[in-house]
Amino acid sequence: MQLPSSSIRSRVRRLAALGALASAIFPQEARAQEFVGSAGTYVSFVFGERFGVGWGFEGGFSYLLEGGSSCDNGGRGGLGFTTQLGAIDVDTFRAVAAVHGGANVADTMDSPVVDGEAGVAMHVNEEIGVGIHTALNVDIPFTPISAWTNFIRAEWLLDEYSVGGGVVLPGRYGMSQQTCVIGRPLRAAGQLVAPGLACVAERFAPSPTDVDDAVARAWAEDAQAEAASVPAFLLLAQELLLLGAPMSLVDAALDAAEDEIRHAQSCAAIASQLCGALVVPRIPVTPRRKPLGRADSLIRLAVESWLDGCLNEGGASARAAEAAYSAEKPSMRNVLSGVATDEARHAKLGWEVLQFAMQAGGAPVREAVAEYREEPIVFSRTLEAEAARFGQLSQSKIQAVNTVVAEAARQELESLLSA
Ligand SMILES: [Fe+2]
Ligand SMILES: [Fe+2]
Repeated sequence: MQLPSSSIRSRVRRLAALGALASAIFPQEARAQEFVGSAGTYVSFVFGERFGVGWGFEGGFSYLLEGGSSCDNGGRGGLGFTTQLGAIDVDTFRAVAAVHGGANVADTMDSPVVDGEAGVAMHVNEEIGVGIHTALNVDIPFTPISAWTNFIRAEWLLDEYSVGGGVVLPGRYGMSQQTCVIGRPLRAAGQLVAPGLACVAERFAPSPTDVDDAVARAWAEDAQAEAASVPAFLLLAQELLLLGAPMSLVDAALDAAEDEIRHAQSCAAIASQLCGALVVPRIPVTPRRKPLGRADSLIRLAVESWLDGCLNEGGASARAAEAAYSAEKPSMRNVLSGVATDEARHAKLGWEVLQFAMQAGGAPVREAVAEYREEPIVFSRTLEAEAARFGQLSQSKIQAVNTVVAEAARQELESLLSA
């Protein structure tokens, strides 16, 4: 067996080091949150055998039976265990251990949660009493990481009933997440992989209504898209190595992965400033790609280079340059200008990889790419013209830039195909 040359080994080492670096900087996207924990505090009016004020703390976990992808805000539901420790007035210690189950009333995490509890309750004052605990909770989310809970509780055999409320963090079935797919995407079996967004910010409503919120969200989405590009370029470097591409292309793909780490950090810093909370982009789980023979690998490489490199990175560069021109803050202008320069280099890499694949794969590669010649640049956003001051382009400007870039790229492709 022939051992890989030292030049290949050094690229493999760099590839592994960059993968480890990216994972160390950004959290990895979770496939699903099957268990979620929550904690809270409550206060209640107690009646029955006596009147009093109940107060205390509760905590527990839930196993999610529905929902739970960290990429969506859909409704959740599940079963779990909960405990309550507290007092009635200051003379009676109260403890509860119970199972609970419930769900959002609609298919969104912003909707109320209805949840029931059944278990054992214990009172300790001069003597110890044990009863059966039942409760009905209605939780109203008021930020992505917290909910008001309202409850009716009955401690049967102890003749204790209560109504009350409190706060649950981060919500009985976890916290809201965001969905976003933009920029150079990570692909699996031809499909785009949707990364999640870990942004703890009350302002991040799914549909921002004012320009500040919309702009903050757009920057956070940019940070996420940039982070998703890191494994995309590492994957590209890996495929180029396997296909015996020139080392200059492998190096350029690894350089691009480094660029994307920097872009993700810069965009996250701006998003954090704008939304007043820490924005942490996540690295999506790198998909297992279907192994292909050399001929099919070259076709896939060429088609993806055309779509993701020539078209989308070309579009990203032109949009960033345009956004840098209209941004008012020098810090935003600097980030956008840097992104524009880097993305132009990534687009150039796309063209070089495309030419390599066309030369190595011949007519079948050319024919496959030609089928995608009319594909558009996949990027849109519904922002108003005012957003340009904050380094984000309006919907109409994005469309205009994308159209110009795609048209120029198509002409370049035609000349490559007819050469
Ligand atoms: Fe980038
Ligand atoms: Fe890029």
